[in-house]
Amino acid sequence: MQFDELLDRRRSTRAFSRDSISEDQVRSILEAANKAPSAGNLQAYGIFAVSDHDKLTDLVAAAKGQEFIAEAPICFVFCADPERSESEYGKRGRDLYSIQDATIAATFAILKAVDLGLASVWVGSFDEERVSNIIGAYKLRPVAIIPVGHGAENPEAKPRRKLSSLVHEM
Ligand SMILES: Cc1cc2nc3c(=O)[nH]c(=O)nc-3n(C[C@H](O)[C@H](O)[C@H](O)COP(=O)(O)O)c2cc1C
Repeated sequence: MQFDELLDRRRSTRAFSRDSISEDQVRSILEAANKAPSAGNLQAYGIFAVSDHDKLTDLVAAAKGQEFIAEAPICFVFCADPERSESEYGKRGRDLYSIQDATIAATFAILKAVDLGLASVWVGSFDEERVSNIIGAYKLRPVAIIPVGHGAENPEAKPRRKLSSLVHEM
């Protein structure tokens, strides 16, 4: 798929069919995440691939009842690894770079999902402690839950701010 088409096709999708996704598809989404840039190439993040239905249901509860999370066959929980980045970059690594590393990797995963004809949504509204307990990630900080599956809706493109209000030329 051409890059611009890929960007245009991506939509936050909040309804998934019951169809599963293949191991190859999961693998290529993870490989794409692994190609993301990271501060000092430390890759200060972890990815938890959750397909167990009970755990997905627990994630729904931790994410304020966002039911579509458990409709998807798999959710990737991207977690920052603050200590890994702190060891090299101190406070900036802990508070900023580890979050950026994790979120850039999540973005790459979402774009690869689109490339595979799959749908996803970025879920950021959740109780971090509950999510950590569900996935057993105690030194990591969950920053994004990304359900991925076959879309069961066709959302319209959302409007964006004008470039002139975002960009400050000087
Ligand atoms: C940091 C962040 C947090 C988000 N959290 C949620 C969320 O908890 N639940 C949800 O349904 N969508 C969530 N979204 C998706 C946004 O609502 C969506 O990206 C935005 O409305 C634009 O729509 P689009 O992705 O279809 O272009 C989140 C997106 C980002 C980047």
